[in-house]
Amino acid sequence: SQRRICVVGSANIDLTFRTSRFPEPGETITGRSLHQGMGGKGANQAVVAARLGAQVSFVARVGNDSFGTQAIEAYQADGIDTSFIRRSENQPTGTAAILVDDHAENCIVVVAGANAELSSEDIVAASTVIESSNVLLCQLETPVEAATEAFRLARAANVLTVLTPAPAEHVTGELLNLCDVCVLNKTEIELLVDQSVNTEAEAVLAAELLRKRGVNRVALTLGSDGVVIQDEQGSMFIPATTVRAVDSTGAGDAFTGALAVSLASGLSLADAARRAGIVAAISVTRLGTQTSFPTVEEVADWNTKEAMQ
Ligand code: RIB
Ligand code: NA
Repeated sequence: SQRRICVVGSANIDLTFRTSRFPEPGETITGRSLHQGMGGKGANQAVVAARLGAQVSFVARVGNDSFGTQAIEAYQADGIDTSFIRRSENQPTGTAAILVDDHAENCIVVVAGANAELSSEDIVAASTVIESSNVLLCQLETPVEAATEAFRLARAANVLTVLTPAPAEHVTGELLNLCDVCVLNKTEIELLVDQSVNTEAEAVLAAELLRKRGVNRVALTLGSDGVVIQDEQGSMFIPATTVRAVDSTGAGDAFTGALAVSLASGLSLADAARRAGIVAAISVTRLGTQTSFPTVEEVADWNTKEAMQ
């Protein structure tokens, strides 16, 4: 059966500047190259899910500008249903300035623009598609009220809710209570549970604290180290595949979108996290955000090559 995923969240244009290192305050440095592509945590998750073969609807806001038109056309080219993307009259399409250094680390500044106008009314207008999905994905680059409304509708309709609490300062207790699966990174969980996470034991403890706040299952992504997953049965550490890193921007979104597709197919959290880890690893080997996300065929080729080694 067709897996249906609904994503509620942000759409950005990503301007990626490659530099050997990050500038110091007051310093001007020369970049190596500029790459323009599509990003935004919501759009990234939607695009990954679509490339992996899910039927995806994306509920979002873009500006009434050329970036907004380019974004919608790109989503449609990936087969995403864009009928619930509204265009804001007075705000530009969200934009991210991304610096990527020679170690594949990044620094990002996002200006929300139209993303800030995603409203509860936009969500209610999309209620039919939310309620008929297998999985709903939200992040917090759009207003928390919109995510909360979407999670309420999903919970009432028995749709699995997946939250990326980024930026983490926007999280509310109500949202965590409505969250089935929380996918987050070290920085985000440290802020949410007010504990530092430097060891596997600390990661497990932090995940427990987050579950006490109402989340059912946790997937804590630790970059090139791997992922800690936790549910009521316990915790498990899943090591990452080692790759030559070029640009890790959006790797967390690639992981989350892929995880959602596998969960929609009925896989366990552990199996879903293993598959999602491979999708994220492939994305890290390529420049850009959505340009780096693999298709289902590319994932299959990767697995074949790995098996031969
Ligand atoms: O998670 C990566 C994303 O964060 C980028 O695509 C950028 O747009 C910011 O939203
Ligand atoms: Na990448």
